[in-house]
Amino acid sequence: MSQSNRVKFASKLGMILATAGGAVGLGNVWRFPYMTGQNGGAAFILIYLACILLLGLPCMISEFIIGRHAASNTARAYSKLANGTAWKWVGFLGVLTGFLITGYYAVVAGWCLQYSAASAMNSLHGTPEFFKSYFADFSTSGWKPLLWVIVILFITHYVIIHGVRNGIERASKIMMPVLFILLLVIVVAACLLPGAWKGVDFLLRPDFTKVTKDVFLGALGQSFYSLSIAMGCICTYASYYSRQTKLLNSAVQIASIDTLVAILAGLIIFPAAFSVGVNPGSGSSLVFITLPNVFEQAFSGLPIIGYFVSFSFYILLSLAALTSLISLHEVSTAFFQEELHISRSRAAMIVTGCCTLIGVLCSMSLGQWKFLNIAGRDLFDVFDFVTGQIFLPVGGLLTCLFLGWYVPKKVVKDEFTNWGTIRGTFFGVYYFLVRYVCPLAILMIFLHQFNVV
Ligand code: PHE
Repeated sequence: MSQSNRVKFASKLGMILATAGGAVGLGNVWRFPYMTGQNGGAAFILIYLACILLLGLPCMISEFIIGRHAASNTARAYSKLANGTAWKWVGFLGVLTGFLITGYYAVVAGWCLQYSAASAMNSLHGTPEFFKSYFADFSTSGWKPLLWVIVILFITHYVIIHGVRNGIERASKIMMPVLFILLLVIVVAACLLPGAWKGVDFLLRPDFTKVTKDVFLGALGQSFYSLSIAMGCICTYASYYSRQTKLLNSAVQIASIDTLVAILAGLIIFPAAFSVGVNPGSGSSLVFITLPNVFEQAFSGLPIIGYFVSFSFYILLSLAALTSLISLHEVSTAFFQEELHISRSRAAMIVTGCCTLIGVLCSMSLGQWKFLNIAGRDLFDVFDFVTGQIFLPVGGLLTCLFLGWYVPKKVVKDEFTNWGTIRGTFFGVYYFLVRYVCPLAILMIFLHQFNVV
């Protein structure tokens, strides 16, 4: 398919909301608030903003440039620019990363659906022990989580087969505003709780004594994960951007939405947790064990409000996970469609089928099929580790080196300035960051994970 007749997002708003939907995900809700609370509150937020500005944005723009320039799936996009060199494998790595994440992300997205259904039926009530065993029993119970994996992948599949405009763009234009409204309503409910201000204070008061090298590297890693860098998603969506799209402006808007959602999630979790004196943890235990208990206690005097807050929160979480899952699915669907020359629906079928299988194996490895483990890590953990801690930094590093050192500067500058039609005031800064600062920073995170630095 030539560049000109390739499908494009129909509107600027749709394009921004779709890409922001890919970026806004579980990382915003279950990881960012916790990291902020643990690492110095507003001091961490400031460092995080600097990481987004100096590192996340340049990496995002680099993927935009590669994707829009090539107007094809991520693997072919790199191949087109790589002229037969080994750089093409970086694109394949991006597709592989997106593909592998789709399967295990669907498992967690499925948990969000189960909790949405359970809170809709008003069955999330009990003691802290109840919530602990509820989650442990459910996530290891075999068929129930599998059912939800199939449901969420089916919904994703449905959106994907309707195409970029009628599927992804239309769905994002509905889901993202709903997500925002729910977020704001729950923030207000949480901040009106008695004693909530202690949580706001904890989250937003800068404590520079907590800032260490680990905090910097943690902020850096979180900014990459949160913007979905090096997973193929950004590059694939950018392949549907028009030549008029201003890449720098779009990246700033998308990163702002992503960061705002993360901070607002913090303004739910900390005020609610502090008002009942519970210490919030992170990850799956925070949203599936601690928070249901917090909502139960915080709204014990107002059960109706508690019901709506809990239900809205899990719908919010499901929407955040779903929009990310759609962006992940699209990476592989575009790949199979264009590389195997098959229809979009057949390509989507292959992806849904394979990812269901990965999801089933990951989910079962947590419970009944404990033999599915590698070196003591269950399969779920293995996928998380390999994609998040190895493929993501390696892919991100190679992308920066590819764009900064291999791709001709003229190609990069033309894309950045829309062929000279917009001012390239920041091009010099961007190019410097992508050539020197980003590769070094990513290398640091990578080595730090293995305790080398
Ligand atoms: N950026 C998403 C989040 O913050 C995570 C994600 C990673 C989504 C990779 C898609 C691809 O949760």
